[in-house]
Amino acid sequence: MPARDQWWRGAVGYQIYPRSFLDTNGDGVGDLEGIRRKLPYLQWLGVDAVWVSPFFPSPGFDHGYDVSDYKGVSDLHGSSTDFSRLVSDAKDLGLRLMVDIVPNHTSAYHPWFREAVKNRHNPFRDYYIWKDPAPDGGPPNNWVSHFGGPAWTLDPRSGQYYCHLFLPEQPDLNWESERVRLEFDEILRYWCDLGVDGFRIDVAHGLGKDPQFRDNPLLREIVNPNDPRDVFTAYDHAHDLDQDHTIEIFERWNRVVAPYGAMLMGETGPDDPHRLARYSSGGTALHTGFYLTPVWLDWEPDVLLAKLRAVRDAAGDGTSWVIENHDNSRSATRYGGGARARHRSLAVTTFLLSLGGVPFIFQGQELGLEDGEIDPIDYEDPIATRNTLSEDAGHDVWGGVTGRDGCRTAMPWDGTHQNGFTEAPFPWLRSAPRSDDETVAGQRGDPASFLHRHRELLALRRSLPQLWESPPEWIDTPAATAAGLLRRDVAVIANLGDGPIDVRLDGRWRQRFTSRGAAVTGSNGVISVPPETTAILQRAR
Ligand code: GLC
Ligand code: CA
Repeated sequence: MPARDQWWRGAVGYQIYPRSFLDTNGDGVGDLEGIRRKLPYLQWLGVDAVWVSPFFPSPGFDHGYDVSDYKGVSDLHGSSTDFSRLVSDAKDLGLRLMVDIVPNHTSAYHPWFREAVKNRHNPFRDYYIWKDPAPDGGPPNNWVSHFGGPAWTLDPRSGQYYCHLFLPEQPDLNWESERVRLEFDEILRYWCDLGVDGFRIDVAHGLGKDPQFRDNPLLREIVNPNDPRDVFTAYDHAHDLDQDHTIEIFERWNRVVAPYGAMLMGETGPDDPHRLARYSSGGTALHTGFYLTPVWLDWEPDVLLAKLRAVRDAAGDGTSWVIENHDNSRSATRYGGGARARHRSLAVTTFLLSLGGVPFIFQGQELGLEDGEIDPIDYEDPIATRNTLSEDAGHDVWGGVTGRDGCRTAMPWDGTHQNGFTEAPFPWLRSAPRSDDETVAGQRGDPASFLHRHRELLALRRSLPQLWESPPEWIDTPAATAAGLLRRDVAVIANLGDGPIDVRLDGRWRQRFTSRGAAVTGSNGVISVPPETTAILQRAR
């Protein structure tokens, strides 16, 4: 098959968390058919590509990120026929479809691991990472799991520990094994042959491990040993993540997918712009890597803008920009809640859409949703349910850690039963109902809604390719809470501070979009931007 052009240039993506998008068979869990039915909505919204989080067979300990068959569709989400219909409808509507490949670990129920645990000499043993205990019988090093506890579990049968950067039910693959590499070459080809346009690669920066398995240095005291995120960030992950040799794996993948013209987009962890840029620079490994710090940050505009600029400078168009995904609190919540936070979220999104690369929107972000309200008893995320205090004999007592459920509640489609997500009495993850003005139906009828503002922005990006195509130049702005860039005849100014700013730009400008209020162009080449607003302007002829 001849290589196609890099379809992702200029594209804007949309992330779907399939469990929570739309349930069409009344079992309370979103399905592929639900995605298919909503493709026209996504086309109306104006996105170009859709990344679907895992829908593969999985025992579900990490809600699909524990895959037990990389080439199948879970019964929970439908069938391979549903998948084919999804592919074909997406093509008809001109939408690109990306699937989520989870290569750092399998499920402990994957046949490879079922074999590997049989004994030390099993042919699949080497697919995983096994180590003898430390001299005291404990784990071989101090690595910790993202989800709590050590990154090692003892297999009593063989007396060896296996490595898992996530749950014990998610054993890490050994990427030093050529057989593992060959398996994934096949998996990539399998989905390309079915017609997918690209891959989001889970924990891309985790595949290579330190060959000597050295301890990670502790950076600071652990404040709350019961909170896996506090424990995890207390370490410098010098030896379990972002190893130099990981890039070679993606160079290989790049060659595998090249004949199909498919895109490789990594969940890349580094905050350091230069470490991050290595994954995508030159286009010989990944095509883009996610810059993830903005999904963690609260409202800290100066920090955010400085980081975005540094990453843009280091990685150019090799970045996928996001402020939300299925792993973190929604931006409207992190930015303080209410109408003001929604405006902040749109202001940041407007700026991200001018940074080049491939920006992504997470389902519901276009509505300005805050996190769903969940009773702790209904938490589903292992970060919340595994780190319990077992004070009450026989019963797990919630340990006070909230986890990632808030952003994973059902997509609110309308004001009917369960906001139109399911006909079941409850969805898989129970949460408080959304008000009408938070739903798609409620906002579609209101041209001033956040949904319409997002749509307007996406349409503008499509009609003004300068916004991503021409090389950007930074514009001087009077405060660290502001940033601006010029791309040919288009200027984008983000004023995320709490007061108005004036920016000097020669010539006459006309406003094409503002996230809030109106930018004012003075006669003397001065543009006034209201607080917490991003404006897009075009030079007037
Ligand atoms: C990634 C996913 C997250 C998952 C983890 C383990 O960070 O985004 O949802 O739990 O990998 O696969
Ligand atoms: Ca369903």
